[in-house]
Amino acid sequence: MSDTKQPKIIIAVDGFSSCGKSTFAKAIAARLGYIFIDTGAMYRAVTLFALEQGAIRSGIVHEDEVAALLDRIAITFRFNPERGASDIYVNGDLAEGKIRTIEVSNCVSRVSAIPEVRAKLVAMQQEMGRRKGVVMDGRDIGTVVFPDAEMKLFMTADPKVRARRRYDELRAKGDEVTLEEIERNVVERDKADMSRRVSPLRQAEDAIVLDNSRMTVDEQMEWFMARLAETKNAL
Ligand code: DC
Repeated sequence: MSDTKQPKIIIAVDGFSSCGKSTFAKAIAARLGYIFIDTGAMYRAVTLFALEQGAIRSGIVHEDEVAALLDRIAITFRFNPERGASDIYVNGDLAEGKIRTIEVSNCVSRVSAIPEVRAKLVAMQQEMGRRKGVVMDGRDIGTVVFPDAEMKLFMTADPKVRARRRYDELRAKGDEVTLEEIERNVVERDKADMSRRVSPLRQAEDAIVLDNSRMTVDEQMEWFMARLAETKNAL
């Protein structure tokens, strides 16, 4: 069901890693006939390229070298009807699967803290939302990318629940990871995302908080549709 007659708005979905932000944002976009943009995938794409190009060596992110690569990386999205979402491409190559490995996850917080990386990706994201009708998920969408977004959600969930979700996802893909390793990664990324100097993860003052530790996607959708009606009434 899409609500094409309503004026289109920007819906910013921020929050901690592995909260189900992308799944939820994608479901909202499908429901409203909006475009879904996963900005975490863009930071992951830069990280993947930096790994491939040797700007990250033995786990060390060489910030100047990563910044110098930015002119050589073209990030594009192409809608994949099978997934009902857009796949990400790096310089024309499909990167969707390659950006979700533990190797990329372990380095992405440090790459996303590089000011040049943020400047480039934030400008791209603002351009993608210029015509509204987007649901964008990330860490700084409601605070930096679209501080005037009509609707802002801030998602959170118990770190143990989040680690379990990511663990199940990676094991289903055949990745040989341990739950302890994932729990460590979730906690470390929370800390890094909240404490970085440029655009740290924080809740926008006008964001609505959704703790989905014990909610199904259907329950979250019901909650969201009620909040959306309130938001549109107030516009
Ligand atoms: O949502 P995700 O876990 O795929 O995001 C990957 C990383 O990118 C995460 O550690 C934080 C960073 N990120 C960011 O700094 N700003 C965004 N808007 C989105 C993601």
